[in-house]
Order: sequence, then C-alpha cells, then structure tokens
Amino acid sequence: MPVAKIAPSMLSCDFANLAMEAKRMTKNGADWLHLDVMDGHFVPNITLGAPIISAIRPHTEAYFDCHMMVSNPSQWVDDIAKAGGQMYTFHIEATEDPISLIQQIHAAGMQAGVAVKPNTPVEKVMGAVAEQCDMILIMTVEPGFGGQRFMAQCMPKVEALRIKYPNLDIEVDGGLSLDTIDASADAGANVIVAGTGIFKAEKPSEVIDTFKEKVNNAQARFAAAAAVSE
Ligand code: DX5
Ligand code: ZN
Repeated sequence: MPVAKIAPSMLSCDFANLAMEAKRMTKNGADWLHLDVMDGHFVPNITLGAPIISAIRPHTEAYFDCHMMVSNPSQWVDDIAKAGGQMYTFHIEATEDPISLIQQIHAAGMQAGVAVKPNTPVEKVMGAVAEQCDMILIMTVEPGFGGQRFMAQCMPKVEALRIKYPNLDIEVDGGLSLDTIDASADAGANVIVAGTGIFKAEKPSEVIDTFKEKVNNAQARFAAAAAVSE
C-alpha cells in the first residue's frame, strides 16, 4: 500500500536561508523536500539548479525530490545525481523518448519520476512509462510559479492512475492546502507537494500531519475495498 509522503516545495521558502528552511521542514515532519528546477525555457521562470541543490545537501538527510521543469531533461541527469538528487522527475512533454530517459536516470543512481501538465492526457504515461518509472506527478497547476489555484479538474487523471496502478507513487503539485487535500487524497494521490500551503502556515507541522493522516486513511480505504472485491 502506498504510504503518505509530504514534500514541502522549497520554492516558497526563504531563499536566503536554504539550510535552515530545510531543517525547519524536517523538524515539522516533512518526509521529502521538493526542489523545483526551472530553466526559463520549459516554463517562464528561473529558480535553482544543481549548484544550489548540492549546497543544501550537507545540511539535511531529507530525500531530495527534484522536479525538473526543463526543456532538455536528459542534459541535467548527471549534474543532479552528483548534487545529491534522489528523485529526478522530468516532464513527459519535454521528451520524445521517456523510456531511454528513465533508464538514464536509473543508471545515474536516482529514481525516475514523470510529470504531466494539466492539459496533457494521462494516457501519455499509461503503459510502459508508468510501469518503468518510480512515480508519476500529476500537476495541479500550470508549472512555473508557486501560489496558484488548485485545478480540481486534474483529479480524474489521478483516479485513473490509482485504479490501474494500486502500488504506484502518485504525486500532486500545485495549490495543495487544507482546502484541497481531500480531493487529492480521495482521488488516490499519496505524495503531496505544497509550497505556500506549508511554508506560509502558522503551524506547518499541523498541516503536514493532517495531509499524512488524510492520505493514509484514503489509501487504507482503497486497500480494504480491493481486498473485498478479490
Ligand atoms: C510550480 C511548482 C510547485 C510550486 C507549488 O510550478 O512545481 O512545486 O512550488 O507551489 P504551491 O504549493 O504554492 O502551489
Ligand atoms: Zn514542483
């Protein structure tokens, strides 16, 4: 049964204090840290890259979930691996050959995630891609910026994936908060990214705990329903 993993997006942290912010999040119960790499080309924004990731690395043992919003994802695999990235999530829209890219990421010693933008049909990742990757990220905003509104219309994609792949890690990213967690958990997502929803909360630990509880309860319900229908 997939377990909840809560991944605060460092895009919403105080960039002048990255190490402190990373530690603050793990103290508050974060499982993963989500690092948004943008190249100013795949998305109209520039954030951080391998040098910054490698600078944060010695300050935390958290799992580094790298969301690569870049036009040429195969170019950065080695740099991110050397920097200490552990999940390398590329966009399906940015490659013609996702299977070779997944193999390249695995050969570099990382797990491979595949991200799907709101207007991209989930069928693009069904089959070989879903079977060979380690996680699928269903974007719930247009990638590029934090603080946008959650797109509930992306939930049918999560539901379709969860039905077909009961054990797959399914991540959602964009506009996640206490108001939108139910829709995501009930659709079947188990990896929850949140920037604004966690970093700007008065008590991040309460948000993280609530996210975990809702996701784990939903996953337990799915497992029970599957056991009944067997
Ligand atoms: C957006 C990034 C997200 C972003 C989410 O392109 O992929 O990870 O930080 O921010 P919130 O949670 O504020 O929508
Ligand atoms: Zn992201």
